[in-house]
Amino acid sequence: MVNTDDQMVEAERAAALALLRWYIEMGADEAIGEEPVNRFAPPAMAPRSPAASNVNDAASPITPPPVPEATEPGPAGRAVAATPPAAFAQSAGEAAQSARAIAARLDDLAALEAAIANFEGCALKRTATNTVIADGNPAAPVMIIGEAPGADEDRIGRPFVGRAGQLLDRMLAAIGLDRSGVLITNVIYWRPPGNRTPTADEIAACLPFVLRHIALVRPKVLVLAGGTAARALLPPGPGITRLRGRWFDLAIPGLDQPIPTLPMFHPAFLLRAPERKREAWRDLLALRARLDELLPVT
Ligand code: URA
Repeated sequence: MVNTDDQMVEAERAAALALLRWYIEMGADEAIGEEPVNRFAPPAMAPRSPAASNVNDAASPITPPPVPEATEPGPAGRAVAATPPAAFAQSAGEAAQSARAIAARLDDLAALEAAIANFEGCALKRTATNTVIADGNPAAPVMIIGEAPGADEDRIGRPFVGRAGQLLDRMLAAIGLDRSGVLITNVIYWRPPGNRTPTADEIAACLPFVLRHIALVRPKVLVLAGGTAARALLPPGPGITRLRGRWFDLAIPGLDQPIPTLPMFHPAFLLRAPERKREAWRDLLALRARLDELLPVT
């Protein structure tokens, strides 16, 4: 029989290995000192929030460094209030209007999935093999929204199962999460031919379902993976390079409280630009710290 101590040792070992894999992904493949240097630590005299000190608890298997202030947005580090862009959320396009009317009537996830699968308002459905809706745990505190299914996702029918998805899994593992701790979806449910960027009409036609999905699962935190997800859900403005790492309080129709929302680089972009993984790591730490703040300690 495996006792609790053995299980804890095994969990810590798995977490340490996940962290090591992430360091290697970031290009840190050589040890240059006996002691780790926390380059994200605030100046010695800077006040620390209780939540920030939690994440450095020696008992934590991941022990990420505290989140640098620079990842916090806006004046005094407060999140910026945001609503989904009217150009999509109130689009006058026929498909978008029809999607809004359907989505408004959906009361549970089974009805949402059936409605998306039966929706004929997005022409991408005609060229796709599968409708790709979600993966992970609908009761999880984190909902991740990506762009659109690629070839692997289209073939298998689940989001983020290709190379970008594997990197996403490693990123999540580095902060102690796996697919049971997140719900993953996209702003588009069908693969755009040749993996092109979805058009404004395609985004507008799918967005009512995405918003309803968020309202039904009520995640504690939303992560927008990449520029297309940020463009679909955040007000028009800077691109993902400027937005990433900033917190937004995103108002979702049907919810009385806005959802803390963090745009990050898309893992497919990180595969092409590994030098940007340093920023992604910072954003992951900010996500971990926010979860530690929001989730009751058990
Ligand atoms: N990229 C995405 O944005 N979503 C997927 O599901 C796969 C790759």
